[in-house]
Amino acid sequence: MNIRKITSDVYYVGVNDRVKTKFEGLWPLPYGVSYNSYIVGGSKKLALIDTVSIDEVREYFNNLDHIAVHRSIDYIIINHMEPDHSGALPEVMRRYPECKIVGNSKTIEMIKGFYHINDESRFVVVKEGDTLDLGDRTLRFTLTPMVHWPETMMTLIEEEGVLFSGDAFGTFGALNGAVVDSEMETDIYIAEMYRYYSNIVGKYGKFVQKAISKLEGVALTYICPTHGPVWHDEIARVVDIVQDLAAYRSEPGVVIVYGSMYGNTAEVAEMIAQEIAALGIKKIIIHNASNSDMSYMIRDAFRYQTLIVGTATYSMRIFPPVETFINAMQTREIKGKVFGCFSNFTWAPNAAGTQLQEFAESMKMPIVATLPIKQSANDATRFEAREFARKIVDAMKNA
Ligand code: FEO
Repeated sequence: MNIRKITSDVYYVGVNDRVKTKFEGLWPLPYGVSYNSYIVGGSKKLALIDTVSIDEVREYFNNLDHIAVHRSIDYIIINHMEPDHSGALPEVMRRYPECKIVGNSKTIEMIKGFYHINDESRFVVVKEGDTLDLGDRTLRFTLTPMVHWPETMMTLIEEEGVLFSGDAFGTFGALNGAVVDSEMETDIYIAEMYRYYSNIVGKYGKFVQKAISKLEGVALTYICPTHGPVWHDEIARVVDIVQDLAAYRSEPGVVIVYGSMYGNTAEVAEMIAQEIAALGIKKIIIHNASNSDMSYMIRDAFRYQTLIVGTATYSMRIFPPVETFINAMQTREIKGKVFGCFSNFTWAPNAAGTQLQEFAESMKMPIVATLPIKQSANDATRFEAREFARKIVDAMKNA
């Protein structure tokens, strides 16, 4: 049981998942993940904010039984319907038969579809800016579609500036005892915030920007997301991080993602990295796409300014793990990179290189440097790699 009083009327009642190895069946969870849920107790009504994954209900209902021992839950506010937050909803409804679900029209449609809860008398439908009076505490609802699903909304306690933000400002990583950032070391969570954002929400940058703009002028005391720590001391820091990621603003650094069958393309990746390092760039990350998990390649491509993609030609196409990576970039509509590419071919006339150029065109990213290699590096390749690196570093300085 991990119940944490956040303010006089707000309690954390979420749970940790240290069993699941991949979030959404895709993204590794080396530190686990938390599913956050909160209780807001007004003088008249008690509201539960989101629920948790169905996988972790035992501890969750222990928490609810403990916190709501003398009062029943009057409302469940559904900020986000993804099953990691709504999985326990049917059981909450069964245990608290008087409880009403509060959501927007899209939320209600999804509840009917996912959980076949069709009793209209149990729904309270809210719109942008609507409020719900709990007695001395007023919840105000802000619709924030596509952060991360179309029904997503945020809920603010007006009197306290406590924001329940859904997936926004969330991170991977289970909570290790403490809940609020001021009571823990946050390094891992901040690092995992980049991976969480880029993997999960990365496609929806313009919607995230719009959602954050709706918060302008609100004096926030706590941000309570659906995953990871509650933010208090570090609100300004995490808002800056998410704003930058949403606007595709990146940090100085070079990410090289390559795919190689027999080491010839890998050799050129190493050469390019050495030449870039020789020009004074200290932050260089190399991913062999055959071995690196997609989750980390996406994270680094989002976070850093320069992306270099190298590939062997495979069946007249980009080497499959590299193709999966560039597809992920297209899906997330990544922008604003200093971009270079290199490609290796044996007999097909640089088919993979042509495809990389098509990728860059589709993303509206000018190609700063290219380097085709036939079969393997030769005496000229070192000089070509040096020239490639010079073009990249010049572009980084001018970006
Ligand atoms: Fe944590 Fe979009 O659900």
